[in-house]
Amino acid sequence: MANCSPSSDQKPDEMASMEHGSENDVKVHVFSSSSELIGKLHEKWSPEQKKPYPAMYSSVVGGIILDPAMMVIPIDDHMVHRGHGVFDTAVILDGYLYELDAHLDRFLRSASKARITSPFPRSTLRSILVQLTMASQCKEGTLRYWLSAGPGNFLLSPSGCPKSAFYAVVIDDVVSQHNDGVKVITSTIPMKSPLFATMKNVNYLPNVLSVMEAEDKGAFASIWVDEEGFIAEGPNVNVAFITDDKELILPSFDKILSGCTAKRLLELAPKLVEQGRLKSVKTADLTVEEAKRSTEMMYIGSTLPILPIIAWDEQPIGDGKVGYLTMALSDLLWHDMVAGPDTQRLCVPYIN
Ligand SMILES: Cc1ncc(COP(=O)(O)O)c(C=O)c1O
Repeated sequence: MANCSPSSDQKPDEMASMEHGSENDVKVHVFSSSSELIGKLHEKWSPEQKKPYPAMYSSVVGGIILDPAMMVIPIDDHMVHRGHGVFDTAVILDGYLYELDAHLDRFLRSASKARITSPFPRSTLRSILVQLTMASQCKEGTLRYWLSAGPGNFLLSPSGCPKSAFYAVVIDDVVSQHNDGVKVITSTIPMKSPLFATMKNVNYLPNVLSVMEAEDKGAFASIWVDEEGFIAEGPNVNVAFITDDKELILPSFDKILSGCTAKRLLELAPKLVEQGRLKSVKTADLTVEEAKRSTEMMYIGSTLPILPIIAWDEQPIGDGKVGYLTMALSDLLWHDMVAGPDTQRLCVPYIN
């Protein structure tokens, strides 16, 4: 009799024979006690290995959780089975949370569009995130957090969910500048309509399929073009172009996610105009033809902060090499991220 959960060392033909086997072949294990189940959950998380998720938070249990095996989300939470949830991130660097306030503002705007009322006021959400990051002792990585309609039942309406839920996790990860360029493709996966693209909700299936399509074609990721033929964004990044007369152009944000990093870049880039390296900085509607004539192209996002793009649909951008203005913009953002107390407005300290 086979156990019903396929193990990683099972061969495809074994899996196929399982699919065609009779239901009597399968003996489903019944966990006889909570301690047996907890033991099983702990098998995945060896205490010797560095913890990829050093701290988590759940409003359902009301506290910070240091044991990843114990971080669970109820299956009747509407974020799990209906996608009724929103999320956001912030980068952790050298004891600071970069642009936490801008991300929190967008988080609450997303929640309002998704008609989710936070279980806590903004100041409490912020305090939980700062305390969580402190408890994690993580110096470099990302902080991700979700607001959900909450647990209650399996219906569509959240009216049977007594309380919305707040979850968060610290992810220990390397955050560094990107000096190498990547290739991109135009996505054939339909992009989200403006209502859903402008809120950061948990329905990222189009984004996932769009990245998978790019990977299938040997590219890093993709570019979405909207119904009117204007450049939109990447699957979890914004995109920017530099024209041959040195204009920095970002697609306008009315139908896409308002990227915190892209917005910050728009504030910082005028420094390159003052230095005479860029001619101007603007947001605009940009056609594919105009965009493909650019001399430089880049992705922009919290964890990058800038990723040079050197080819699009197999066609080189400019001379097909990483652009020097792209790297100058990358340096501007990077210095802003590591500036710590010098940019107190943006960097929230969590380690004293
Ligand atoms: C669809 C989409 N566009 C753009 C971005 C870039 O936003 P940010 O700079 O705030 O990370 C993200 C990432 O959150 C995203 O998911």
